[in-house]
Amino acid sequence: MNFEKQNVTDYPNTNTIFQVWKFKEKLDLQDSFQSLCTLILNLNNSFFNRFPESRASCIMGIGFEAWKKLSLREPLPKELENFAEIKGNTHTAVSSPGDLHFHLRADNYSICFDMSTEISKILKPIADSLLEIHGFKYWDNRSILGFVDGTENPHGQDRDQFAMIGDEDAEYKGGSYLFVQKYLHNMDAWQSLSTEDQEKVIGRSKENDIEMADDIKPSNSHIALANIGDNLKIIRDNMPFGTPSSNEFGTYFISYANSFSTTKTMLKKMFIGDPVGNYDRILDFSTAKTGTLFFVPTKDMLNEFSE
Ligand code: HEM
Repeated sequence: MNFEKQNVTDYPNTNTIFQVWKFKEKLDLQDSFQSLCTLILNLNNSFFNRFPESRASCIMGIGFEAWKKLSLREPLPKELENFAEIKGNTHTAVSSPGDLHFHLRADNYSICFDMSTEISKILKPIADSLLEIHGFKYWDNRSILGFVDGTENPHGQDRDQFAMIGDEDAEYKGGSYLFVQKYLHNMDAWQSLSTEDQEKVIGRSKENDIEMADDIKPSNSHIALANIGDNLKIIRDNMPFGTPSSNEFGTYFISYANSFSTTKTMLKKMFIGDPVGNYDRILDFSTAKTGTLFFVPTKDMLNEFSE
């Protein structure tokens, strides 16, 4: 079986646009969806051909409700569901709607902008835009909190293995589970911490990005709770965004995984805590405003959907 993946394993690029759309009620979606699938394939090919060095890519994810509305293949991908909120005693990973998700990456912002414009032309008559975020590379891949983000991501062939579904769901081999959350940070509270205290929140040094030794790393630090073992990893492509003049400082958390249960386990440890109540201290400075699960079909499936 052929399974050319969408570009779920690439590294973050300099510019990114994220979009979430929700279909309008009672409309015939089929023709527009077919055109959209064709467009996604075309955008990837066209920008690769015109600007091969730009690492441009356009990835479409499809939500659980949308999959049913569009009458796509059955049975559904095994772990595709509506994300159910995860409520800890102090912080909640909220659930928010979304039928289609777009992850548009390039080194040149113009490419992201043009991809976003073409997608919007097709979707505007049939869907409402729920979110559009323009993320940027901040220094040496730092999150807006000032710490390097992405260091412990898998590399090389491990990226394929952890991002793409394998034989466990053969019908959907090469697909991927995409989970996203928009976070807003309380920067005043964050900046009131000393660098040493910020390092205890993350579990790594700020300037040099070195992991703390296990005997001094706090059990409620972000990496102590998010690390659930060497065999359970996800591909994270977080991007910072913000508008300082209106005091908006954010992280768009985005992950691709071969199973959603891996991502869910991380979320449970972060929000509920391990043991219960020992939640991730990063959440005292970061509020999840959205949370949605999508399935990313292979390019071959997009081809099939476009016919
Ligand atoms: C406020 C949003 C978030 C920010 C700013 C953030 C930032 C960071 C930073 C700075 C690191 C350390 C460097 C690295 O290895 O990448 C890290 C690690 C990590 N994060 Fe996050 N993160 C966020 C949310 C999440 C969420 C929601 C998850 C999972 C669902 C997650 C999973 C991980 C994992 C698995 C690691 C690597 C742990 C390890 O093996 O050392 N992060 N994150």
